[in-house]
Amino acid sequence: MALDLAFVRSQFPALADGFAYFDNAGGSLVLGNVADRVRDYLLTTSVQTGASYPQSRRAVERLSEARARIALMLNAARPEEIVLGPSTTVLFQWLAHAMEGQLQPGDEIVVTDFDHESNIGPWRALEKRGIVIKTWSLDPDTLTVDLDALDRLMGPRTRLVAVTHTSNILGTINPVAEIAKRVHARGAAIAVDAVAYAPHRAVDVQAWDVDYYVFSFYKTYGPHFAVMYGKHDRLLELDGLYHYFYGRDKVPAKLEPGNANYELAWGAAGIVDYLDALGGGTGDRAAITRAFDAIAVQEESLSERLLGYLNGRNDVRIVGHRAGDAALRVPTIAFKLDGRHSDAIVRDVDAAAVGIRFGDFHSRRLVEHLGLAADGGVVRVSMVHYNTLEEVDRLVAALDRALH
Ligand SMILES: Cc1ncc(COP(=O)(O)O)c(C=O)c1O
Repeated sequence: MALDLAFVRSQFPALADGFAYFDNAGGSLVLGNVADRVRDYLLTTSVQTGASYPQSRRAVERLSEARARIALMLNAARPEEIVLGPSTTVLFQWLAHAMEGQLQPGDEIVVTDFDHESNIGPWRALEKRGIVIKTWSLDPDTLTVDLDALDRLMGPRTRLVAVTHTSNILGTINPVAEIAKRVHARGAAIAVDAVAYAPHRAVDVQAWDVDYYVFSFYKTYGPHFAVMYGKHDRLLELDGLYHYFYGRDKVPAKLEPGNANYELAWGAAGIVDYLDALGGGTGDRAAITRAFDAIAVQEESLSERLLGYLNGRNDVRIVGHRAGDAALRVPTIAFKLDGRHSDAIVRDVDAAAVGIRFGDFHSRRLVEHLGLAADGGVVRVSMVHYNTLEEVDRLVAALDRALH
């Protein structure tokens, strides 16, 4: 099924301003239907849940419908496995906190030095409770994950491996199912940051057999809100974060302290309606898979076009895969220019009504480890399926002027 780009672009009202948005890994544009749903929720069902009057009952129905829709998007086995929260960073902090009761001094957690800090810092903070932190690095030659190195890092006391599905700088898709298999073989759990993956490919937490899987809706065409999938048995084991009378079996409520943001939950479910429409409107997982298959084709052509230009220059260092292959990467492309400050390049491109960005994108350990922190870090062009080849050509023309 080919992507209907005219339909796609019509769903994002902000595109009407003619700007080329290539900062999507920072935050994507929002679907019109998501905004409509937030407004509708606020104006019709913004009452407290749990009462017997009809509007309150309607609010409860909407929230459970939203949770079920989001469960479908992730292919969770049941809606109770969907934990909603304000951001990925906060969800990882909550998760680390909720695991404290099951960790003993001397237990080990493996973190990477190639994740966004959201999935490193909360685990490293457990060091003060006697947890031993081990660091998994990339293969320095290929900049891909070294599975044997992971095997060597894990031992009998390893309790958790925290890893990204896709780096927000390299754009490389990590073999999350294979990593989960190796982690489980050691009796440990896996916590995955999928923020840079979920806007690009279908998520299937059951197929990959991950334990915790977290991403933010504001990079996935929705509002500033986030989701953590947790395998039901794992959620039951976690400490509660809410009041004492929310018992251990109260999932996900015990992990959502305070009231979840109802209007954003209802709004975020609109992302699933959009994916369903893109995939033929059959209302099932197959539609979501078809939608992302079409998205991957569009994304690969965007990557190929930009990488074709960047590969042709001998003063550009691409940080990550040099080919656009959708099986290997998403269209988040970072590069560095010999002897040039990344800031200056980005500002020149701004002037052409093309939005890109420079820095370390809170993946500071990765940028420092690769020796890329000087001169403003890397330039990052992060595309999604609503971008067009014409926009890439505009970017290339602007880069060409800036790079002279
Ligand atoms: C890969 C990755 N992980 C985590 C985050 C943090 O997400 P949030 O802002 O929802 O905490 C980001 C945000 O840039 C990200 O790119």
